[in-house]
Amino acid sequence: MNPLAKELNEILEGSIADVMLSDYGKRMYFPKGIISQSAEAKKKATRYNATIGIATEKNEALYIPSIYDGFSNGLTANDIFPYAPTAGDVNLRKAWLDEMILKNPNLEGKKTSLPVVTSGLTHAISIAFSLFLDEGDEIIVPDFYWGNYNLIFTEQRKAKNVTFSLFENGKLNIEGLSRTIDECTGDKVSLILNFPNNPTGYTPTVDEAEKIVSMLVSKAEAGKKLLVFTDDAYFGLFFEEDVCRESLFSLLSDAHENIFTVKGDAATKEEMVWGFRVGFLTYNSKGMTEAQYEALVQKTMGAIRGNVSSCSKPAQTLLLQGMKSPTYHQEKKSGIAKIQSRYEVIKKVLATYEGNDDLLPLPFNSGYFMSFTCKGDSEVLRTHLLDNYGVGTISIKGKYLRLAFSSTDIENIEELLSIVYKAAGEVF
Ligand SMILES: Cc1ncc(COP(=O)(O)O)c(C=O)c1O
Repeated sequence: MNPLAKELNEILEGSIADVMLSDYGKRMYFPKGIISQSAEAKKKATRYNATIGIATEKNEALYIPSIYDGFSNGLTANDIFPYAPTAGDVNLRKAWLDEMILKNPNLEGKKTSLPVVTSGLTHAISIAFSLFLDEGDEIIVPDFYWGNYNLIFTEQRKAKNVTFSLFENGKLNIEGLSRTIDECTGDKVSLILNFPNNPTGYTPTVDEAEKIVSMLVSKAEAGKKLLVFTDDAYFGLFFEEDVCRESLFSLLSDAHENIFTVKGDAATKEEMVWGFRVGFLTYNSKGMTEAQYEALVQKTMGAIRGNVSSCSKPAQTLLLQGMKSPTYHQEKKSGIAKIQSRYEVIKKVLATYEGNDDLLPLPFNSGYFMSFTCKGDSEVLRTHLLDNYGVGTISIKGKYLRLAFSSTDIENIEELLSIVYKAAGEVF
């Protein structure tokens, strides 16, 4: 049991709640991860707060104007107040699928389920794995992953995380993934791949993506039955020429009868509506029939119904209305361009620190973040930065430090890095 859960249970000892707690209730805790480090930074990071996993400019959330306009655009009562259908507004589901195909040309002409609306991507991951992961099942998760997977896989599902190093010698470790699949017991193997990755900011190149696909297909041909969940939270934030611009969901679509792909994505970051809580789940496998896709949608609806009943109606209305605006794509592009220009500056500035081994940048080419491997304890560096420089960062596993360039204004990047390197020199 997690020590934080134990601590909470001890506090509750002797109370009626303690007697009533379920097994899951006993295992539950609120992690001291990104959320609590961000909360600390909110109080103390008076200079720069590079913890925030949203995109901001001058301390304000970035947004797509066509979506913002919806708040003053005279929506009718029926656009806002009724329940949304359990699987989501059908027009939004269709629009999301159309956009998905536009962004992923390999999906053209392929059959998938119609995306089901969830209450954000966290909910999509939790719902999907409630359908596909049993207690004691193994799930392959790279060593760099979004910490919330722990609550979903380990605590909710009581599954076993099987891990592999995402990088080996500074390169994507496809061989390690391949070996880990082989080592899983039984023929049924589940894995989750998140690109652009949180916390590293890495996405496979076109060449690497092709290698991942052919490796997975060869496992499927050899008889492994694979569930590949693509966590596409940061989809679209690709900043280098050679980065693969299609989701692995798309590249794996109809690849083999033994490969079942589940795409978890969300408006959250793609459309810059973090608080709306709109995510999606979409399924594909070669040879799956319309009736089978519909059966999967019905099961997903059942899981949603018994969990949050249905998702936010006004959020879906505002999102769909924004997506239909003729200026929408251009506006979205300009938001992405802002984050890209910060990426370019951070790359340039980091080049000037080459040879400084206090902090070694991990490979990154996309997304919101970059992370360093620290020479010493990253938690010591994080608190030193917070207490002495008013700079908020995220420390991971005592070894890595994550910076969000998505929420650091371009003119502050150079100084942010100079403070981080200076502080590292002081504590390591
Ligand atoms: C990798 C990854 N997956 C999923 C999510 C969850 O997104 P949402 O806010 O839509 O639940 C996040 C959010 O930070 C994330 O970083």
